[in-house]
Amino acid sequence: METKAAPDVAPRREAPAYSVPGACTIVIFGASGDLTARKLMPALYALAEQKLLPRCFAIIGVARRDLGNEGFRQRMREAVGRFSRLGAVRDDVWAPLAENMQYLATSFDESKGYLDLRDLLAQVDQACGTEGNHLFYLATPPTAYAGIVRSLGEAGLVKPDGHGKGWTRIIIEKPFGRDLGSAQELNRQALSVFRERQVYRIDHYLGKETVQNILAFRFGNSIFEPLWNRRYMDHVQLTVAEDLGAEGRGEYYDRAGALRDMVQNHMLQLLSLVAMEPPAAFDAEAIRDEKVKLLRAVRRIPAERVGAQTVRGQYTAGTIGQRTLVGYREESGVARGSTTETYAALRLTIDNWRWAGVPFYLRTGKALASRLTEVTIQYREPPLLMFEHAAHADHEGPDRLEPNRLSLRIQPDERIMLRFGLKPPGEHMSLIPVVMDFGYREGFGAQPPEAYERLLLDAMLGDSTLFLRGDEAESAWSLVAPILEAWAGDAKGLTSYPAGSWGPTAADALIERDDRRWARL
Ligand SMILES: NC(=O)c1ccc[n+]([C@@H]2O[C@H](COP(=O)([O-])OP(=O)(O)OC[C@H]3O[C@@H](n4cnc5c(N)ncnc54)[C@H](OP(=O)(O)O)[C@@H]3O)[C@@H](O)[C@H]2O)c1
Repeated sequence: METKAAPDVAPRREAPAYSVPGACTIVIFGASGDLTARKLMPALYALAEQKLLPRCFAIIGVARRDLGNEGFRQRMREAVGRFSRLGAVRDDVWAPLAENMQYLATSFDESKGYLDLRDLLAQVDQACGTEGNHLFYLATPPTAYAGIVRSLGEAGLVKPDGHGKGWTRIIIEKPFGRDLGSAQELNRQALSVFRERQVYRIDHYLGKETVQNILAFRFGNSIFEPLWNRRYMDHVQLTVAEDLGAEGRGEYYDRAGALRDMVQNHMLQLLSLVAMEPPAAFDAEAIRDEKVKLLRAVRRIPAERVGAQTVRGQYTAGTIGQRTLVGYREESGVARGSTTETYAALRLTIDNWRWAGVPFYLRTGKALASRLTEVTIQYREPPLLMFEHAAHADHEGPDRLEPNRLSLRIQPDERIMLRFGLKPPGEHMSLIPVVMDFGYREGFGAQPPEAYERLLLDAMLGDSTLFLRGDEAESAWSLVAPILEAWAGDAKGLTSYPAGSWGPTAADALIERDDRRWARL
């Protein structure tokens, strides 16, 4: 069964109408790096092609190696050609963008570099008419964040918000800290130079259309929200499965692990959007207030319960489709005796009226059977089973109906699926599960914009709804802190799983102890 966009409402086939920001300059620190090439420049190009950049717009790239203006432009053009979702680079779009693109070679540690940047910004403001509006983007190693923030302040490059002409904002990439203490310290440093409303902490999941659609789905329809609570929901599952190993990112990943790389940020963001209370208004503060409230209501797992409520694993060699993967410890950049987890599963509970008694199961891993991000909501079973011949589901146990299930798929194909039971034609009063399935691509006929397009645009517009507030980042860290601590002191608790499987058997046991199963994906 399939559901298309309602026929009496014309599906929207062109890009949705976004506002165009006012004149500004974006300064990218780390402009010779991977993120700039892979995501930032293709996103800026896509905004230009969609006519969503201001008429007066300039880009200044800052990094260590000496590329020169022409070298930088050339490199960026190649990056757009390689990574843009829009295909071949159009000269009529690229030329005006490249014209106002400059490069400054400096070490982030040199104070002279910031004085040069100040002069360059003044020139650009003058020449391009960017009116003193400056957006700094930290696409650098996280160890450089604090120093850049401090140096920007010392060089007088940060205008107090709301005073005089022009605005200053800063986007800080993930990871925002590597534990609660370092996140608090980074917040302190950022807020000693910037006001909170000038700081945009990125979690690119929030820029994904389907993640935003969780709120639209919940609060824009009256049929789901009344069922969105402990009376009707049995449990919720969040899955972020990757089918790649640590490939090429071994060194970074070995210092992070699944809990830091995925759970603390993306998965807790998903959790807060799925479980938060309706905000009083659809604005940055109201929404983030509710998200923080929810994160604070998640019960912290005490040290003695970490073993029972969490599972961590590391992949060994295996195959995924046609690909053969070496074990995690054989990946380049990974320590041979590494105890970093490439898989994490958690059982969380939320202490509030809506969710008391409803477990939230989270699982994420690398080198799993397929790439998939999905929120699965399982409803309670009907109170009385009056169908003698209820179809047996192979994994739900004998004589049990497959429960109603709502799945919000975020990657790779964005869709919403609702499963319920129906009687098939025939004499017997039996039930089989059927699925109502809405695919965004088929339904709307348009490719959704990349997350970075939306996030860059919002930062230029001064809308921080889809960025993390400082207290939100800290709250998420405080939730994973006891788990990180307990895991650090218990190397024996690390299990293993073969690449190409769905994770360690201990993760199945985690949910089966509650007489439930992971959703088959
Ligand atoms: N890559 C991704 O897809 C991705 C995705 C999500 C988040 N992120 C985050 O984005 C940030 C950047 O990641 P990345 O992959 O782009 O890293 P990267 O490829 O290593 O790039 C780092 C950039 O910082 C510059 N740099 C480093 N130290 C410097 C110094 N002391 N002085 C001047 N320039 C310096 C480098 O310049 P030179 O090379 O010229 O020295 C380079 O331009 C990280 O925080 C990462 O966690 C990345």
